[in-house]
Amino acid sequence: MNIVETVAEVRNQVKAWRKEGLTVGLVPTMGYLHEGHQSLIARACQENDRVVVSVFVNPTQFGPNEDLASYPRDLQHDAALCESTGADLIFHPTPEEMYPKGFCSFVDMDVLTKELCGLSRPVHFRGVCTVVSKLFHIVQPDRAYFGEKDAQQLAVIRRMVLDLNMDIEIVGCPIVREADGLAKSSRNTYLSPEERKAALVLSRSIFVGKELAEQGETDAKKLVQKMTEIIEAEPLAKIDYVKVVDLMTMQQIETLDRPFLAAMAVYIGKTRLIDNFMMQAGGAVQ
Ligand code: PAF
Repeated sequence: MNIVETVAEVRNQVKAWRKEGLTVGLVPTMGYLHEGHQSLIARACQENDRVVVSVFVNPTQFGPNEDLASYPRDLQHDAALCESTGADLIFHPTPEEMYPKGFCSFVDMDVLTKELCGLSRPVHFRGVCTVVSKLFHIVQPDRAYFGEKDAQQLAVIRRMVLDLNMDIEIVGCPIVREADGLAKSSRNTYLSPEERKAALVLSRSIFVGKELAEQGETDAKKLVQKMTEIIEAEPLAKIDYVKVVDLMTMQQIETLDRPFLAAMAVYIGKTRLIDNFMMQAGGAVQ
């Protein structure tokens, strides 16, 4: 497995694979890989002849007061995980390679990005859409893999691919959890032991909400209320949002009569964590 830093090197490698008639999967990541990422890479390896993993902490998707500088990085660990899972190439560009001097073109989106995380992270999805578009143009994969933990990001990318006629299949992969329920996240490393325990309110609230919906609750307000109560009982937790939205449009709904996403962002101390479940009306998606 090779690690390359330049767009030209990725293009040369992918061109050579294409000449051999091979299919290519892309797993975009910001590194500090865990079992959640590993499940995306494993799925990409099953479904494609060759797999590229991008490892790039993308500055344009962080707001001014967010954790860009402190975001955890460990390329050696990432390379070992990619290699043992079967990836063929890591693309690890510098910020200057992705955003050279004079860079001023962005991909932005309305509606879907104005709810949930978009409300408290106003520049986030513009940065995500821009970097993911760039990665799609650089690698030109047949398929690209994203985790359902970032459910809004997945919906935004599906919409971008549709709206901008990108010929790439977007594959969403289920949330991977720790044994006690906490959704795997690179940001979990920020948590102190006490905060790590407190962070379990997110998954507890998700499981209760999911059970309520499976039992036939159709009132979105009641679902949100129950999920909120569980989080509010934890003194270290501060809610950013707990919402139920239409799975396609990310707009809030009142009745659970269509595919929906129940999503939350919660601060545990200074660490902002997200979790969610998705459901078709009357049956779980995940
Ligand atoms: O989900 C992530 O890790 C990032 O948002 C992504 C898709 C790699 C873009 O930087």
